[in-house]
Amino acid sequence: MSRKALIAANWKMYKTPAEAKAFVDAFLPMVAGHTRDEIALFPSPVLLPTVIPACKGSNVAVGAQNIHFAEEGAYTGETSVGQLMAVGGTHTLIGHSERRQYFAETDEIVNKKLHTALKHGIVPIVCIGEVLAEREAGMTAGVLKKQIIGAFAGITPAAAKPIVIAYEPVWAIGTGKTATPEIAVDAHRIIRAEVAKLLGADVAAAMRILYGGSVKPDNANALIGEVEIDGALVGGASLKPDSLAAIVKY
Ligand code: PGA
Repeated sequence: MSRKALIAANWKMYKTPAEAKAFVDAFLPMVAGHTRDEIALFPSPVLLPTVIPACKGSNVAVGAQNIHFAEEGAYTGETSVGQLMAVGGTHTLIGHSERRQYFAETDEIVNKKLHTALKHGIVPIVCIGEVLAEREAGMTAGVLKKQIIGAFAGITPAAAKPIVIAYEPVWAIGTGKTATPEIAVDAHRIIRAEVAKLLGADVAAAMRILYGGSVKPDNANALIGEVEIDGALVGGASLKPDSLAAIVKY
């Protein structure tokens, strides 16, 4: 089954509205007419009202880096799915390793957020991955399985269709240490097999699994060129339009 690749740009806590607008103005012409892959930008919430109108009518989607699982409420500093949708956002990252590491997000929280995103038709990119000590201890497969089982609790095969998974080995994020295509493919196979166990072979075969962790123009082709790797979640190398465009055109 062929899966359309998704190139997702995680801007993290970078850019002002003026910088974000300048990025979009430069980037859209670089990828105009590109239909082979889907493209999505993930800016900070404060940038969404700038980036979403600037991308309107283009081949570039825009989403949030995080949502809260509650519909609304007294959750200071958080963003709801309704707020994201009201400004035109269509996607969200869920459970990025920096959220897990610095903001205490657990598999249980990831699961609640996934249910909320799916309920509202927001495309969720669920991030999973092992830390270096886990890889070195031979625990990678177990960690990935546990994260998937936790994230997907209560999700039915019919509801799961929009879900995208991003495999991001934590030791490769922002470190310049990319997983080799072999390491990534191996992890993606473990993930797809676990999804098949939980949700059936058809859902697993159709689900996109992205690789993330120090993806750059010069390694994008070797990674995304693999049949098992259905796109990339890009941090540092997504901050410059020419760099992200080069990755889109891997
Ligand atoms: P990186 O970040 O490309 O800078 O390693 C990836 C991510 O955190 O999603």
